[in-house]
Amino acid sequence: MTPPNIAPATGKLGVLTPGVGAVASTFIAGVIAARQGLAQPVGSISQLAHIRLGGRDEGRNPMIKDFVPLAGLDDLVFGGWDPISPNAMEAAKTAGVLQDRDISAISGELEGVVPMEAVFDERWVTRLHGTRVKKLTSKADQAAALIDDIDRFKTENECDRLSMVWCGSTEAYQEPSAAHQTVTSFEEGLRNDDDNISPSQIYAYAAIMSGVPFANGAPNLTVDLPCMLELARERSVPVAGKDFKTGQTLMKTLLSPGLKARMLGVRGWFSTNILGNRDGEVLDAPENFKTKEVSKLGVLDTILQPDVYPDLYGNLDHVVRINYYPPRGDEKEGWDNIDIFGWMGYPMQIKIDFLCRDSILAAPIVLDLALFMDLAARTGVSGVQDWLSFYFKAPLSATDQGPEHDLFIQQTKMKNTLREWMGEQPVTHSEAG
Ligand SMILES: NC(=O)c1ccc[n+]([C@@H]2O[C@H](COP(=O)([O-])OP(=O)(O)OC[C@H]3O[C@@H](n4cnc5c(N)ncnc54)[C@H](O)[C@@H]3O)[C@@H](O)[C@H]2O)c1
Repeated sequence: MTPPNIAPATGKLGVLTPGVGAVASTFIAGVIAARQGLAQPVGSISQLAHIRLGGRDEGRNPMIKDFVPLAGLDDLVFGGWDPISPNAMEAAKTAGVLQDRDISAISGELEGVVPMEAVFDERWVTRLHGTRVKKLTSKADQAAALIDDIDRFKTENECDRLSMVWCGSTEAYQEPSAAHQTVTSFEEGLRNDDDNISPSQIYAYAAIMSGVPFANGAPNLTVDLPCMLELARERSVPVAGKDFKTGQTLMKTLLSPGLKARMLGVRGWFSTNILGNRDGEVLDAPENFKTKEVSKLGVLDTILQPDVYPDLYGNLDHVVRINYYPPRGDEKEGWDNIDIFGWMGYPMQIKIDFLCRDSILAAPIVLDLALFMDLAARTGVSGVQDWLSFYFKAPLSATDQGPEHDLFIQQTKMKNTLREWMGEQPVTHSEAG
């Protein structure tokens, strides 16, 4: 393919997060700390990973950030909206992810990130009570106000470009409705205050209308809607989602391709979690948990292909539970019991006990998405960015074949996309390549 002409990453990139809670404040704090040489951006592909170019014998293996024209950490400016958090410092303290010594060293900069008043509706997140909320009841007015916020933020902070990543709470479960079918029906829904239009959709609409790439880090129905995809195409804006791939699902997408590669059977996969952060509190409401459950359950089927391997994976019980348990805070514990079987059907079990920190795993994903979505926009591609499936539990797909869930195939796809954009050959890992 002829490599595209990628516009240079000049000037400042504003990163806007609807939702300045645990994930967003950990992301912002980590970037500021990295800028000051206080911490390493561990977990970020854009900052730490190398990419092989050409044959193995060529010895070309630059860092991704030196190979593709990405915005630098020093060029990032942070902003967002939140109905509760007064600034990123308070958000970080409430979240309790980072220790005092880490946030006090950068307290001035964190206090300077003051979220704008949110478009928020408690019906979608029943466990939260927002106070820093726009006093506009009409959804069309809310969308217009967000578009104004985006424009003002860009001007006041002298940004060259913006990138938006939804880091807000998981909204209640919903199926697409008539309002979501076309841009016309969605805009009519905004004017008529259609109950089916959620706040996250209003943010996505405002972003796309403003030409700002939008990635959804939560499992709610947001850009994965015909109206949003139509608008993204019309306005030539890249979109991606959904639900950051962290914690237990990350483990699932690491392990299940390995079991399948060795043609070992799986009879059951029981996953349970305890967590005590605000996310856990929101997910304690059944209608919000349902949104998460659907996103988490899709993973195994797509990787294991029970239709192709009915004897190995056709009779698999997959159960996912999340329990809100305040003493744990952000330090989630996820248990997996996996019932597998091998030669002559003999059963075996694998147990995983992952004592993880959700926001520590999610923060580098926010950074990478903000940078790569900006790269996509400068490359001139639009609509669903399949090549960023690597980062999501329930990746959107632009093709009828659906998304790829296997982390290693996703990684290859991401790196090959970058190679192609930069005029290099894809790496096939065959004997010849
Ligand atoms: N931490 C992870 O590993 C992980 C992984 C996958 C997905 N997620 C999702 O990312 C999101 C953020 O997670 P978190 O741990 O930071 O949660 P959090 O509760 O700490 O932060 C979410 C923030 O969003 C705000 N919010 C809610 N509705 C809003 C609206 N309409 N507009 C603007 N802000 C709004 C809340 O006030 C809160 O401060 C959640 O939806 C979570 O499910 C997190």
